[in-house]
Amino acid sequence: MSLKLFRYPGSKTTFLPTILPIINEVDGDLFVEPFLGSGAVLLNYQKCENKIGNDLNSYIIRIWKSIIEVDWEYFKNFYDENIKRFGDWSNNKEIFYKFRNYGNQKWHKSDTLDEGLFYLIMTNSCINNMCRFGG
Ligand SMILES: C[S@@+](CC[C@H](N)C(=O)[O-])C[C@H]1O[C@@H](n2cnc3c(N)ncnc32)[C@H](O)[C@@H]1O
Repeated sequence: MSLKLFRYPGSKTTFLPTILPIINEVDGDLFVEPFLGSGAVLLNYQKCENKIGNDLNSYIIRIWKSIIEVDWEYFKNFYDENIKRFGDWSNNKEIFYKFRNYGNQKWHKSDTLDEGLFYLIMTNSCINNMCRFGG
């Protein structure tokens, strides 16, 4: 079974059985993933503990920073409070847009923990994880 934190378009999850045996042949103290995305390769390469992830997409970096900083209670409260405020957006277009508009005003480009959590929820709420936010 492979490790996964969130789904992402273009993720290499399905190719891990091909990729991992190849990179596992290389020894080293540091693993650098230049195209982090959802980190399918980085998370599942376990030959060394020191890892660096890079991505051109600053929103992806914000998601990762939030995942690293957040604890489960905080994330659960964030999620529950917003469900209480808006209702369940997972199958309701109007609620989803209300939540997105709110997040665009409140968290987008705020460089906060909540910004990353907002993007994480956005990407996991949309078909094929293709989402728009920020206006
Ligand atoms: C398909 S996704 C990530 C796949 C990932 N390696 C995995 O384990 O699933 C590709 C990522 O590369 C990033 N990217 C594309 N061009 C880049 C560049 N020139 N420098 C850094 N990141 C780049 C994209 O933003 C995207 O998040």
